[in-house]
Amino acid sequence: MCSVVGYVGKNLSRSFVMEGLTRLEYRGYDSAGFACLHPQDHRVIYTKSQGGVSNLLKNFEKSPIDGFLGMGHTRWSTHGVISTENAHPQFDCKKMISIVHNGIIENHHELRLSLMQAGHIFQSQTDTETIAHLFESLLTTHKNIKDAVVGLVNRLEGAYAFAILMTPYPDMMLVVRKRSPLCIGSGDDEMFIASDMLAFAGKTNKMLFLPDESFAFIRKNSIELFDFKGTALQPHFQIVDIPWTSDMKQGYEHFMLKEICEQKRVIQDTVNKYRAQEHEVYQKMGLVAQQVKELQRITLVGCGTSWHAARVAQFFFETIARVRVDVGLASEMRYLPFFLEKNSIAIGISQSGETADTLEALRFLREQSVHTIALVNVPSSTMVRETRGALSVYAGPEVAVASTKAFAAQVTALYWLAHKIALEKGLINERALKTAENELLVAAEILESAMDQYKREIVQKLAPYYAQFKQALFLGRHISYPFAQEASLKLKEISYIFTDCYPAAELKHGPLALVDKEMPIFIFSILDPVIYQKLVSNAQEVKARSGHLIAFAFEGQKELIELADTAFVIPRVNPLLGPLAMTGLMQLFNYHIARVLNRPIDKPRNLAKSLTVE
Ligand code: AGP
Repeated sequence: MCSVVGYVGKNLSRSFVMEGLTRLEYRGYDSAGFACLHPQDHRVIYTKSQGGVSNLLKNFEKSPIDGFLGMGHTRWSTHGVISTENAHPQFDCKKMISIVHNGIIENHHELRLSLMQAGHIFQSQTDTETIAHLFESLLTTHKNIKDAVVGLVNRLEGAYAFAILMTPYPDMMLVVRKRSPLCIGSGDDEMFIASDMLAFAGKTNKMLFLPDESFAFIRKNSIELFDFKGTALQPHFQIVDIPWTSDMKQGYEHFMLKEICEQKRVIQDTVNKYRAQEHEVYQKMGLVAQQVKELQRITLVGCGTSWHAARVAQFFFETIARVRVDVGLASEMRYLPFFLEKNSIAIGISQSGETADTLEALRFLREQSVHTIALVNVPSSTMVRETRGALSVYAGPEVAVASTKAFAAQVTALYWLAHKIALEKGLINERALKTAENELLVAAEILESAMDQYKREIVQKLAPYYAQFKQALFLGRHISYPFAQEASLKLKEISYIFTDCYPAAELKHGPLALVDKEMPIFIFSILDPVIYQKLVSNAQEVKARSGHLIAFAFEGQKELIELADTAFVIPRVNPLLGPLAMTGLMQLFNYHIARVLNRPIDKPRNLAKSLTVE
């Protein structure tokens, strides 16, 4: 995913644009660029760099360009290698049109070919440049710019949000949106444009979320909004107060560490918010109590960490609410047969609420007449606007690319929801719901105390030791298997150590061949006594082959603890909350391994915080 930031107004644009790009750099950081119109002759002036915003800022020391109409971009590349040529902004032939773009133009290849045949000369490998040349061509064949934009958007296929500035229009920025998000902030004789409103938090709270399939001409104190047919639309600004402080790290070395340490409060906040909204929760889901009572099936969809949260939650809904759950990996499920059942709902789980794979899966389910609900950490996200109902998690802004506190918040919310549905079905009473809420608060306490208990040993001994390994296997059983998957993802995405994950019993069916002293095995225990004994057998298989075992166990699980080379032991909780209670310790251990390796923990290579392309 990329970031688009723009400014048109009474002040020079560069300082806002660069601060906005810095705030949104979590979205992608392969390359960056800035363009503006020269204040006097309105020609397009620009600079680009490989790498993050800090490299781009260095360019201004040599060429301090600026202008009242400006825009910037950080890129997570989809088309074309990481290079300065492929960095945005991109241009038309005459460099009268400059564009920054987030998304993907799926038909860019045929458009490029026909434009090249018409004599257009391309400078990059990007799909974005195609938009600039196509627009250049349409401006010569349409009687006005609005008609040219209508022609443009009806030729582009894919998901995109882009901003264009043009020499002939020195006071106006064109913005266009189809599926990828774009927000407008209205200030005093100035307008802010960004992929995420975090870019202008603290500068205005007057916000317009550009409607899907719309475009706008933005001037410092006006906005003309149109749909893709060219019909004028009424812009609806809303007041949105975005939490923002200049020092968002609050003294932590990395956002990830800060977010790991916030989890106890996040769980408490989420429990308290759900406890308080108890009677509105159905309304927020777009349901009535009777529909919840008759619920037979839930489809959960997500990607990455959110998919892991879905796989953990499957145990909640099936065990507590007795509702059958299908968990779909969002990018796969819409290409598989779907069997619609009555009394069913679908819940899309997403921290950002902008993940294209999950959005497309929800759109697919809506087309199958399934009642779709979004469970997100960003209430203003596209997923909320496109579903029949939405529930929030209350993790606060999660900036580090590796998701941590959002996972804890998702698991918390889904555990509470499973009990709420069970209550509606008459399977439990009010007291049991209150007990569940207290169990979550206990798990939050244990999550934090476990980190406090082990952090010194992790920092001084364990992380330096395990950072030496080039690979690792992760094992779990039952509810600790999807948690092991999450742990495996967490280590690989911030440390670049190769990891794989299996249900523990699967090891002997093949992966056991990998086990030797060079292959540390992380094993996550379970409180069910029968399954725990099986897990101990799996641990013994590892030890019998001189495997190196790191166990995350519960108090009293002597066999497993004694088998392990390294054992983390935490107090017992409700068996279904084992993953939640362990999650802080797991994340902290992985964080410190990556820190020993001096990795860019908040912005791992090749990744981005929210993937708004499929
Ligand atoms: C998690 O650490 C990853 N950064 C990634 O897998 C993420 O969970 C996934 O891209 C889904 O994002 P979402 O929750 O915003 O939809």
